[in-house]
Amino acid sequence: MAIEFKQDKNIFHLKSKNTSYIIKIVNDKYPAHLYWGKKLSGSLDFEDKIIYGDRPVMTVIKEDNLSLELLPQEYPAYGNTDYGVPGYKILQENGSRTTNALYSEHRIYKDKTELTGLPASYAEADDNVESLEIDLVDQTADFKITLTYTVFADYDIITRSAKIINTGQKNLRLQSALSISLDFEDSDFEMLQLSGAWGRERHLKTRSLVQGLQQIESKRGASSHYQNPFIALSRPNTDEFQGEVYAANLVYSGNFKASVEVNHYERTRLSLGINDFDFSWLLEAGEEFQAPEAVLAYSDQGLNQMSQLYHKFYRERLVKSKFKDQERPVLLNNWEGTYFDFNEDKIVEIAASAAELGVELFVLDDGWFGRRNDDTSSLGDWYVNKNKLPNGVSGLAEKINDLGLAFGIWVEPEMVSPDSDLYREHSDWVIEVPDRPNSEGRNQLILDFSRREVQDYIIDVLSELFAGANISYVKWDMNRNMTEIGSNKLAAARQEETAHRYILGLYRVLEKLTSKFPDILFESCASGGGRFDPGMLYYMPQTWTSDDTDAVERLKIQYGTSLVYPVSAMGTHISAVPNHQLGRITSLDMRANTAYYGAFGYELDPTEMSFKEREIVKAQIKKFKSLRNLIQFGDFYRLLSPFAGNECAWMTVSDDQKEAFVSYYKILAEANVFSGKIKLQGLNPDYDYQIKELNKTFSGSQLLYSGLPIGELKQEDFSSKSWHLQVI
Ligand code: DGJ
Repeated sequence: MAIEFKQDKNIFHLKSKNTSYIIKIVNDKYPAHLYWGKKLSGSLDFEDKIIYGDRPVMTVIKEDNLSLELLPQEYPAYGNTDYGVPGYKILQENGSRTTNALYSEHRIYKDKTELTGLPASYAEADDNVESLEIDLVDQTADFKITLTYTVFADYDIITRSAKIINTGQKNLRLQSALSISLDFEDSDFEMLQLSGAWGRERHLKTRSLVQGLQQIESKRGASSHYQNPFIALSRPNTDEFQGEVYAANLVYSGNFKASVEVNHYERTRLSLGINDFDFSWLLEAGEEFQAPEAVLAYSDQGLNQMSQLYHKFYRERLVKSKFKDQERPVLLNNWEGTYFDFNEDKIVEIAASAAELGVELFVLDDGWFGRRNDDTSSLGDWYVNKNKLPNGVSGLAEKINDLGLAFGIWVEPEMVSPDSDLYREHSDWVIEVPDRPNSEGRNQLILDFSRREVQDYIIDVLSELFAGANISYVKWDMNRNMTEIGSNKLAAARQEETAHRYILGLYRVLEKLTSKFPDILFESCASGGGRFDPGMLYYMPQTWTSDDTDAVERLKIQYGTSLVYPVSAMGTHISAVPNHQLGRITSLDMRANTAYYGAFGYELDPTEMSFKEREIVKAQIKKFKSLRNLIQFGDFYRLLSPFAGNECAWMTVSDDQKEAFVSYYKILAEANVFSGKIKLQGLNPDYDYQIKELNKTFSGSQLLYSGLPIGELKQEDFSSKSWHLQVI
């Protein structure tokens, strides 16, 4: 039983394999958060958590003789004795923003129900999964809130979401409707976030908490390059392998906020959900609003265990596509090889050359449609440019298939160029506000996906494209953020709904297309990793991690991304040198050792490579194919952090612990130093591992407790080594 209700104490005990999460309905009214952490058993008493009485400058609820300020709550309201970040805030027709939704009933059931209109994790038959719904009712303002908790017992994951339903006759305006609120009784934590920019996404940043509000957010219409919808609190001195971590990740791709507030009693409130900045939602009689799902993971063995919980759960119970557990094809993408400058002959030449190297999928990137020869036109005109591809997409796909390669194509369906037939015909179909000029990003505007007719148009046009040729893979790009946020279709009173309605529209389009074309492997992209989030992962099992393909920069990007997202979800390509983003020259070896950890491929013109380089690449692809299952689906361990110094190391271990692949990277060379050892992780101490590269066998215990000797490195900057361990 994953969820137990102790009626005598009004306590819900949510139990996964190793964790407990405990809620108590205090005074039959208030859902209080009593505990989240390592699994508890036996007779439990948390009465000390419920503090009654008065204190200086404190406001109290007279009939209960308590202040909500001192009660750790599950979903705090606004306007009462709690002054922290509320879980929700509702403006009523009489002008009041004060609400008081109290416990009314609950349900416990097996499995999990879907979230209407939103991506979310799911249970499969025979999973040990139970859900709890707690209804809170406000009888004055006439609304109901349903808090949903699902325990994925074997995954050690708890998911939460909230739904607000207008049960009365009057309009309500939601001013905030977060997904979770979590109260901790102290503030002895560090806050972890994944932050960055274009070209250096998801760098790990940490800070100590201080009294007041610390917050990350996106206001750009996409989860963004700048902040990721992930937040964690760790106990001081937590590292990769020891210490407690409490983490939350939002299954959402738009504006979000994640905040941590430390109050004057040094208590901590973590909140996560849709950003309430520039958000409101008019809820008419009978309507409901579903907040996105948050995925909670607790680890008492450091960050690495937290990551492994997320990796497995996302691979197996979030990604919906049939490709979730399939090895990903080695691809060659022509973007950095040709940019917009190609024709059919050139593409076929590149693909033929790639096929000889062992590549399995050719991906045609931007520039195949409309009159697109640079980034100033044609987004929206999703028909082939016959000057470049005289035999159409299907003719090209056939030629690629004849070479023994699968064929993939790039699209950017959410956008429109002002210089396009689509915009000339439907200039009101864009995100904009009245009487003000539209700002442009990369010379483009954003289609208003909050509108049904826009969604349907895109579904139809893309269905025709995908059905009209033998397309095995689609790269779904998105290259600008929102400005002048408004919809020509929405009433003035609903304009603040635009950004969320856009995301709901996007999800509808993705739901339709991915269900209609289940055999297409979709990869999501947003100028690289500008929308690398669980919402997109639900529809598309992999994401282009970053436009920055430099092998050294990628260490930090992939290291940070791996905090939450599985290796199989990260698009990782080898590109030409000098690197196009920063001009750095690294060896093919270094580039491969970094790119191996992901959905591996190349992003260059292989016809320009020398004979020697081609031989190296052939060997790389052969090696990767033999390691692919292990790398993409094994347990990933971070060993040395590139954020901490001049080195990086990570490894992946098979489920049965009989195989592992380890890589070590040294960024800048140093004179007259000895390379040390790296202590490995995840191996079986009782097994003997043969290491091909060293022609030696080491016991698992030696590799774990004494370490793997790194050995001599090449005397050059950006050097790396990797080792394949096997129990023979
Ligand atoms: C941005 C993407 O991140 C690149 O990989 C490439 O597809 C370009 N867009 C094409 O315009």
